[in-house]
Amino acid sequence: MIETLLNHNKAWAAQRVLEDPDYFKRLMGLQSPRYLWIGCSDSRVPANVITGLEPGEVFVHRNVANLLHPGDLNGLSVLQFAVEVLKVGDIIVCGHYGCGGVQAASDGTRHGLIDHWLRPIMDLNERFEADLALLPDAERRLDRLCELNVEQTVIRVTQTPVVQDAWTAGQSLAVHGWVYSLADGLIRDLGCSVASIDEARRHRLGHGGR
Ligand code: CO
Repeated sequence: MIETLLNHNKAWAAQRVLEDPDYFKRLMGLQSPRYLWIGCSDSRVPANVITGLEPGEVFVHRNVANLLHPGDLNGLSVLQFAVEVLKVGDIIVCGHYGCGGVQAASDGTRHGLIDHWLRPIMDLNERFEADLALLPDAERRLDRLCELNVEQTVIRVTQTPVVQDAWTAGQSLAVHGWVYSLADGLIRDLGCSVASIDEARRHRLGHGGR
């Protein structure tokens, strides 16, 4: 029942004030998260919950399969606000194994509008076809494609004028690629972090940053 959510909210807010009377006053006054999270919309991968972060600590953008298209006004607006106004120090691109979006991009069938959104993953699937074919089964191939997709989004983020300009201006900013496992709840760092314009230039998908 939808009313349950509102009742939970009342109980949650009351509990917060009980523990810390100034809790909402403080949060209302200032939003200063240190992190921007770009993740998948999947309901099993909630940024705050899996990283133990409280309200106010992470700025979150989620979409199907954690993508950033070059013309995505929504994602780019979030990125600009996070970098230029909030001045986050770290951007985390977090995908997850068993991603339905990545699966849909690689199963060779049509799904409608979402196929346009997933096009960058279909391209990756074709580009890395030979490497993926070496893996023993479909599950491993999907998981590897999930990783490649995270790495590609990391590169896309580093290629945006917003991030490039921040680095040129000397702002401290790192972009990281993580992948979350639904099986054990653990996040794996893919080791493809980029923290400067020089590193971004050197970074190539499939063999960058490791
Ligand atoms: Co997903």
